[in-house]
Amino acid sequence: MAFTYSEKVMDHFANPRNVGEIENADGIGEVGNSKCGDIMKMYLKIEGNVLVDVKFKTFGCGAAIATSSMATELIKGKTIDEALKLTNKAVMEALDGLPPVKVHCSVLAEQAIKAAISDYYKKQGIDPTPIVGDIGDCDHCDHCE
Ligand code: FES
Repeated sequence: MAFTYSEKVMDHFANPRNVGEIENADGIGEVGNSKCGDIMKMYLKIEGNVLVDVKFKTFGCGAAIATSSMATELIKGKTIDEALKLTNKAVMEALDGLPPVKVHCSVLAEQAIKAAISDYYKKQGIDPTPIVGDIGDCDHCDHCE
């Protein structure tokens, strides 16, 4: 099947921003898509209420790499509240869209950010559920159906 990707998607796939790990990260989130087997890991450095550094590693398709890259760019330097408001739709819009069959790849980025913020709260003994809400689970997601 041939897909058409925007120039921004191709750019973030070919030159992903913020790839790597953060040593002693304040929050780490790992999410996977059980249908395609792709995995995304997100690392956060948080000072006060601000995400001062964000890095990611994605073992997955080009769209997953491009959305992770764009998502890190959009939340870096932002507050936790602002990062939690980032939706996969906003990431896709920032990339000038994704082919419909690739929409589920952008969901992974949103979930990875939420998982990393949840981990940050858990490390501090705070229950993240009322703050972060339901991270979602690919098993219950119908994007790949
Ligand atoms: Fe699995 Fe894109 S095909 S995240």
